Amino acid sequence: MKEVRFGFIGSGKISQYSAESIQKHNKASVVAVQDLNKERADELADKFDIKHRFTDSADLFACPDVDAVYIAVPNKFHASLATEAMKAGKHVILEKPFAMSTAEAEEVIRVSKETGRVFSVGMNQRFNEDSQKIKAIADTGALGEIYYAKAYWFRREGIPKLGTWFGNKALAGAGAINDIGVHLLDLCLHTMGNFDPVSVFGTTYTKFGNRGLGEGGWGISDATETTFDVDDLATAMIKMRNGATICLEVSWAAHIKDSNRMDVELFGTEMGASLYPSKLYKRNDPHNADYQVIDKVAAKPALEHCDRFHNFANHLIDGEPLLVTADEALVVQKILDAVAESTRTGKSVDL
Ligand SMILES: NC(=O)c1ccc[n+]([C@@H]2O[C@H](COP(=O)([O-])OP(=O)(O)OC[C@H]3O[C@@H](n4cnc5c(N)ncnc54)[C@H](O)[C@@H]3O)[C@@H](O)[C@H]2O)c1
Repeated sequence: MKEVRFGFIGSGKISQYSAESIQKHNKASVVAVQDLNKERADELADKFDIKHRFTDSADLFACPDVDAVYIAVPNKFHASLATEAMKAGKHVILEKPFAMSTAEAEEVIRVSKETGRVFSVGMNQRFNEDSQKIKAIADTGALGEIYYAKAYWFRREGIPKLGTWFGNKALAGAGAINDIGVHLLDLCLHTMGNFDPVSVFGTTYTKFGNRGLGEGGWGISDATETTFDVDDLATAMIKMRNGATICLEVSWAAHIKDSNRMDVELFGTEMGASLYPSKLYKRNDPHNADYQVIDKVAAKPALEHCDRFHNFANHLIDGEPLLVTADEALVVQKILDAVAESTRTGKSVDL
């Protein structure tokens, strides 16, 4: 493939940033957009000078100008639209979270294999420069054994626009954990280089959105007064096969000191690391009192472009390895499902 022509399913808030990313690639472009809401599709098409605009996804999938489809719609529709796109011959990059369940995710992977179409989930936090630097260092083994990790994203008032699909379980599957928890969970597994969990104990809470509190306002869908019945705080302990443990914590809304606090912290036997921003913690000489906190991490990002769409397009054009594989995304989905099950049963879930 010499160039990649993208079609967008969904012309909501995140699609605007995604179109900007694709425009910066000299061999990729957005040639078609679709949204159930015609004005939104038109607005995105006008802003980025996009040729085709549709309201029916089937028309975009049938469009011969489209090579690859980016799907950015409410989570309920992720898996079905991804499989339809691949059956129509298109490669797919899907927004997070992968699906509403492990069974849905497995079906997407089956269709990807059956059709031979490339499939990836666009986990953009893996692509930021700091994540890439720490990943490059962790891959050399310099951290030693990574036996513990903390991944957290706490927002004080960060619930997407209240009344929209984000807060509704039937449309979103889950709340904070599906929206922002998924990013840092994925990033944590990626930087640890460990996608082999064996058990999960999780708990979720709904304490703010159901009272009309904690709104941050993300999203451009209309508020249709859907019920808020998803988590606005979630936590999980994830045990890995090699004995390592991950502590995941996330909130859309909570009474906390900082309005926004996020990080992935890796605890290695030789060094520690954190990602937002990238830092390293180590002692060179055990007899020297000075402990080293390295603020300017001097590693080269593994992917110079630091962009999920560039990675996906380059993969199709010249075989650049895809950073986010379907199998890794499936493991993340299994952990999300396990958190929900553990919350229901009050017990730890074996994977
Ligand atoms: N990677 C990230 O950092 C990131 C950030 C925000 C959102 N997201 C993900 O992107 C997706 C979209 O989020 P958003 O923030 O753009 O939401 P949004 O509410 O701003 O926009 C959603 C759009 O989808 C349209 N839509 C609804 N159902 C549709 C359907 N069946 N077919 C076509 N269009 C449909 C709506 O009309 C709306 O324009 C979600 O899955 C979300 O989790 C990812």
